[in-house]
Amino acid sequence: GGDLADRIAACTRVVPDFPTAGVSFQDLGPVYADATLVRDTAAAMHRAFQGRFDSVLALEARGFPLGAVVAQRAGTPLVLARKPGKLPGTVDSVQYGLEYGSDRLETQSGALTPGAHVLVVDDVLATGGTLEAAARLVERSGARVSGLATVLELTALGGREKLAAHEVFAARHVT
Ligand code: PRP
Ligand code: MG
Repeated sequence: GGDLADRIAACTRVVPDFPTAGVSFQDLGPVYADATLVRDTAAAMHRAFQGRFDSVLALEARGFPLGAVVAQRAGTPLVLARKPGKLPGTVDSVQYGLEYGSDRLETQSGALTPGAHVLVVDDVLATGGTLEAAARLVERSGARVSGLATVLELTALGGREKLAAHEVFAARHVT
């Protein structure tokens, strides 16, 4: 609700030209410093998809803390999507373009089971490249995307257009 969005706004530091010129970095450090706000944000993500997911996929790195809390609340397994080269054994891998640079996300083969209903959790929806890649990773495993949940959505970047096939929840929209 609006109250949650206002509390997140009060705990978001916008840092201009970081990490590169023209990028406005959304620093959510003060959100994580507020245990009640973390709990309430995770509860809102859980509520938005309640009864419709049985696994949480959290995206390295800044999706990890919220994803872990959502999985704990829902009582579901937590799967970590890692940056390349971090996971042992056979992995599923997807490449994507970023607001700054390009990268890959990987899960261990078999970590997402075919038929699972997966809620993907990250901190920020900017261009949508990261969440779109995560959704491909889920589908590659034979699992289904129940939804995509973020703390912030930067609406001006139009990331939702890349994610039109999916239901998206953002606890706060930044215009
Ligand atoms: C940031 C942020 C999101 C992503 C959003 O992650 O945490 O995951 O960018 O951008 P997009 O919607 O344009 O894809 P980053 O890749 O900087 O890495 P980190 O989470 O490991 O810090
Ligand atoms: Mg990230």
